Amino acid sequence: MTNVYSTRTQLLQVNPQRPQAPIIRRAARILLEKGLVAFPTETVYGLGANALDDRAVSRIFEVKRRPFFDPLIVHIAEKSMIEFVAVDIPEIAYRLADEFWPGPLTFVLKRHKRVAERVSAGMETVAVRMPNHRVPLALIRAAEVPVAAPSANLFSRPSPTNAQHVMDDLAGHVDLILDGGPCPIGLESTVLDLTVSTPAILRPGGTPAETLSKFIPDLAWPVQASVTEDEKAISSPGMLLKHYSPKAKFLLLAGGGPDASSKTLAMISALVSQGFKVGVMTTDEDSGQYSDVAVHLERLGPQNDCAEIGRNLFDRMRSLDKQGVDFIVMRSVTDQGLGAAISDRLFKAAEQQIINLDQPADIQAIINRHQKH
Ligand code: TXA
Ligand code: MG
Repeated sequence: MTNVYSTRTQLLQVNPQRPQAPIIRRAARILLEKGLVAFPTETVYGLGANALDDRAVSRIFEVKRRPFFDPLIVHIAEKSMIEFVAVDIPEIAYRLADEFWPGPLTFVLKRHKRVAERVSAGMETVAVRMPNHRVPLALIRAAEVPVAAPSANLFSRPSPTNAQHVMDDLAGHVDLILDGGPCPIGLESTVLDLTVSTPAILRPGGTPAETLSKFIPDLAWPVQASVTEDEKAISSPGMLLKHYSPKAKFLLLAGGGPDASSKTLAMISALVSQGFKVGVMTTDEDSGQYSDVAVHLERLGPQNDCAEIGRNLFDRMRSLDKQGVDFIVMRSVTDQGLGAAISDRLFKAAEQQIINLDQPADIQAIINRHQKH
């Protein structure tokens, strides 16, 4: 790795309910000296830099190995700070902020020019959110600057939901990691574009579309299929990127009706019999089905508890990666409520391919695709 910022990484425990002032002051000083601080939020861990400082922000891209065209979210600690980082703010932004902030909802607005251009990848817009977590709120208040922070993972790895995940990806490349325990939501914020005439969800996340649509009757959701790839590239560059592409090939299964279990098992058995190491992510209810096959099993939670499944999702993906599996198999979940965010992450992990169990699966073709990787 050339030109990646390298340093000694400090790991400090911080109380997520009552962040200790000396720790927060130390973290704030690092931010003001162009350093990088990883911290917990209610969604996932963020990798923070002073959003007003182009050099500091550049470092985020370097250590994450993130392409410069993928813009970052700016975090603020008071609703009123929105005017410090954005201009021409529509009325709806204030109404939504009153309802949903602090919380897992990010607005795309017109950027104030004091925000480092690099944050927005050169675009005229800026993504802004006020996190519902006392550690970043205290940190932003102490540093007295808005903090640009993407998820604190290496590019294309699952987002980090505890401090160990951040250590695994970024130790030696960031100045400080604040360990405030596991993230209560575990999925990233919902990104909502408010620069267009009809507010549009660019990324489903911790605030479900159904909840938002009560306040935005004409909410565009999901992003219409008619939007061309070019238009999407302009509205949210990050959406086009290949996400979470580990060594393992992620197989997302859907359908199958009453035979879903036996078809899933048949597919897994075929992979195992060819000598592949197979990981399975399953709901608690289905976990018993796999007791007779040699798989690496990760339980996500009860099938009707999307909050629990969401909280565990990235951790279980990382765990299977560590175990060195060749394939990860998972059945699709509901796309209602938080399920939409979970489904979106699974779809991206599966490189936008869903295996429909209602059709005969060509397992050899799947294996061949994997081996071309
Ligand atoms: O929950 C979260 O949102 C976490 C925590 C740390 O706050 N952050 C996070 O950041 O997930 P990141 O960088 O991993 O994802 C930011 C998403 C990307 O899909 C990016 O393309 C989009 O927000 N985004 C950022 N700025 C944008 C802008 N100006 N216009 C459109 N999309 C933008
Ligand atoms: Mg991310």
